[in-house]
Amino acid sequence: MANADRDAVRTRVLFVCLGNICRSPLAEGVFLHLVREAGLDHRFEVDSAGTCDWHVGERPDARATAVARKHGVELPSRARQVTPDDLDTFDHVLAMDRENLRDLRRLARASARANIRLLRAHDAAAAGEADRDVPDPYYGGPSGFDLVYEMVHRSCAALLAELTANE
Ligand code: 4NP
Repeated sequence: MANADRDAVRTRVLFVCLGNICRSPLAEGVFLHLVREAGLDHRFEVDSAGTCDWHVGERPDARATAVARKHGVELPSRARQVTPDDLDTFDHVLAMDRENLRDLRRLARASARANIRLLRAHDAAAAGEADRDVPDPYYGGPSGFDLVYEMVHRSCAALLAELTANE
């Protein structure tokens, strides 16, 4: 397949949290890692963003980078704020918690075409509907980042399986 044809069928996936320095960069890095392991780089475009602008331009939090590195995952992101255009151009937008989800739904124009949902809707280990948030680890210690990593990894693996189920 020519490169242009390949690009035409790329699925665009955006991960969103509050600051875009902890949870969503981890989800972006893990999803990219899984995509590459599966040899599917040509099928996906992956990015992350925050609902706020507090950390725009920053590299991920050192604790997020450390937990990712422990698992052999690199985090390529630089923080940016999500825009209404993102919700028109991405196919799938995965929110880390219900507050992010509410903010994204407020931001979306009527024309928004993205499928916007919680990342942990894909987590088979979640304890029902009350347990769908990836908790904000920013003000906690490193163990919070280990927990976030496990949730994100389980959810991203299930998301990738869902998005490639018909191939
Ligand atoms: P994130 O975590 O939303 O997972 O990137 C946070 C990062 C920064 C802040 C809060 C949460 N903050 O208050 O600056």
